[in-house]
Amino acid sequence: MTKSSNAMWGGRFAAGPDAIMEAINASIGFDQRLASQDIAGSRAHAAMLAACGIISDTDAEAIGEGLLTVLSEIEAGDFPFSTALEDIHMNVEARLKEVIGAPAGRLHTGRSRNDQVAVDFRLWVRDQCDAADGALLKLIQALIAQAEAGADYVMPGFTHLQVAQPVTWGHHMLAYVEMFARDRSRFADARARMNTSPLGAAALAGTSFPIDRQMTAEALGFDRPMANSLDAVSDRDFALEFLSSASICAMHMSRLAEELVIWSSAQFRFVKMSDQWSTGSSIMPQKRNPDAAELIRAKIGRIFGANVALMTVMKGLPLTYSKDMQEDKEQVFDAADNLMLALAAMAGMVSDMVPQVDNLRAAAATGFSTATDLADWLVRELGLPFRDAHHVTGSLVALAESKDCDLPDLSLDEMKSAHDGITSDVFTVLGVDNSVASRTSFGGTAPDQVRARIADWKDVLG
Ligand code: ARG
Repeated sequence: MTKSSNAMWGGRFAAGPDAIMEAINASIGFDQRLASQDIAGSRAHAAMLAACGIISDTDAEAIGEGLLTVLSEIEAGDFPFSTALEDIHMNVEARLKEVIGAPAGRLHTGRSRNDQVAVDFRLWVRDQCDAADGALLKLIQALIAQAEAGADYVMPGFTHLQVAQPVTWGHHMLAYVEMFARDRSRFADARARMNTSPLGAAALAGTSFPIDRQMTAEALGFDRPMANSLDAVSDRDFALEFLSSASICAMHMSRLAEELVIWSSAQFRFVKMSDQWSTGSSIMPQKRNPDAAELIRAKIGRIFGANVALMTVMKGLPLTYSKDMQEDKEQVFDAADNLMLALAAMAGMVSDMVPQVDNLRAAAATGFSTATDLADWLVRELGLPFRDAHHVTGSLVALAESKDCDLPDLSLDEMKSAHDGITSDVFTVLGVDNSVASRTSFGGTAPDQVRARIADWKDVLG
């Protein structure tokens, strides 16, 4: 016996789909997450149809009320989602028919699932941009609090993961504030660009009904209707912009997570992670593992993967809608869920971590980290060209290395052996505090600069 055809579009079909066809075709397993957006879109559409005289006020009212009933059923968690009804759009409409009867059949006037899914998904992604913004703000505030508490803690700055020059803890924290602030602005840009309404594009060509697209756009908080119906149903740039912003943000978190993994290791001991953000080992009782940081470090994999997956789905699709585009949602859902989780975990870890001031300071003095300060002193005090100063300093580093000591441990005579103009004054620039305090150029690591930038951020963030 063949299954009966689909109740929504089965008019021309004698038989229903094969079970496997149904399985590959259905999106209700995941697009049920769009329920509230779908219902908001339908309510706006129905109200507009009535305002334009396309359906009666009575029908529109019944539809509007009925949709709220359906929404409350879905929110209560006992809605019988049906795979035979494919997706959230048809599940909602079919249930509306059961709830209010005949008027439900008028809701789909002048629209299509193509503009419906485009509007639902846009609304969902728009919310995620707002959620990312809020979560980033919390992370930024946690970093600023760390920066403020440790504006003058001295730590090594690295290049090539080799100690390069002393920097301040506050400066390092603020570097991430800069990154995450750019992430916020990327989400804001994406949000602003996506905030146009596809509703009313109908299947692809627009509609012959005298609809008011401005009205539905406004009702859904969009700036304006999209100007080309073909583009409106086939555009997924908004999802891709979200994913690419999320990818960059996750990449930033991954870098910070990597630093936390390194810093919390027994070899570095730069930070102590709180118990809340550490895990133990089932076999090694001494272990204290930075699992949250490691997982955040890994999240970029799936988030960037989602970005690549959707780019690949979209490339080469002819205009307009193709069913390929149904593959957009799971990628974005997964990326968004994991981005939010990672942002929240990162904010928690950052606010709880305790910089180990003495270890940071001791490490800052290793690796001849003030060699540049010595070279700069030779330029400033003795008038040497920088290249010559670099050379003289290099020979002193080699001397210290051969004696297995640091630059400040060399005697004045040893210093003079490299250049006889050197005086005991040179030792004042070889300490790590002097080194960081001297980096007062705008954006430099000096504690005063750090405090000034913190004040700037506080102004901006209010
Ligand atoms: N479930 C579909 C999707 O997610 C909705 C649009 C279906 N449109 C169509 N012409 N079959 O893309």
